[in-house]
Amino acid sequence: MEALQCLSTWFQNEDLTAFNTGHGKCAWELTGKSARLNNLFNEAMASDSALACGVVMKKCKGVFEGLKSLVDVGGGTGAMAKCIAETFPTMNCTVFDLPHVVSGLQGSKNLKFVGGDMFESVPSADAILLKWILHDWNDEECVKILKRCKEAIGRNGNIGGKVIIMEMILGNQNWDEKSTETQLFFDLFLMTCVTGRERREDEWAKIFFAAGFSNYKINPMLGVRGLIEVYP
Ligand SMILES: C[S@@+](CC[C@H](N)C(=O)[O-])C[C@H]1O[C@@H](n2cnc3c(N)ncnc32)[C@H](O)[C@@H]1O
Repeated sequence: MEALQCLSTWFQNEDLTAFNTGHGKCAWELTGKSARLNNLFNEAMASDSALACGVVMKKCKGVFEGLKSLVDVGGGTGAMAKCIAETFPTMNCTVFDLPHVVSGLQGSKNLKFVGGDMFESVPSADAILLKWILHDWNDEECVKILKRCKEAIGRNGNIGGKVIIMEMILGNQNWDEKSTETQLFFDLFLMTCVTGRERREDEWAKIFFAAGFSNYKINPMLGVRGLIEVYP
């Protein structure tokens, strides 16, 4: 809540976000410094993934079929990747997140944890999953992340790779008054705590093409959220 208390100061300074004004550092730096905040945040994310994974496997399982490997970039403590790894026991799954998020986490036969920075490099795989990642970042940062993902699916002569993005798509076919409330809630949070925002389909498309991708397909999933397959 500290970020929201700092809006008037933030409007008059050069800080990147109101969160930086309130805490003196960005959200991901603070989760790295405070074990309590890190755990709280990761648990919140994992509880969303428990809901999302059930829906994805019911409505969009085909999106993952045939993949030999997948990296969940910014995959937190692995709730989503664990569910995918259990549903597809022959798929090698990797959870890639900041070192303080994945350190000490135990994998399984087809699931491993790797620490790193997605702006530097992303482990290679047939598919990269980005769930609730890009809405945290501005357009320029999204293009950088997507370029790293494109390199990751292009390595080792991988043909037919894709990036799978789970995000809100503003104005999708099921849009109603409650959707607008949800969007405004998220936009307020994203505007103050990070550099991102929610986006319409044409805004998503612009980012995909700027990162060098050639095509995409939206699969409706859960209310305001969709699963977007993005192709090199
Ligand atoms: C909104 S959370 C989403 C977590 C998970 N994908 C989910 O939906 O449950 C964003 C994640 O991005 C991770 N992250 C932030 N900056 C990162 C970076 N530079 N490299 C890798 N991961 C990063 C955070 O640690 C966090 O786990």
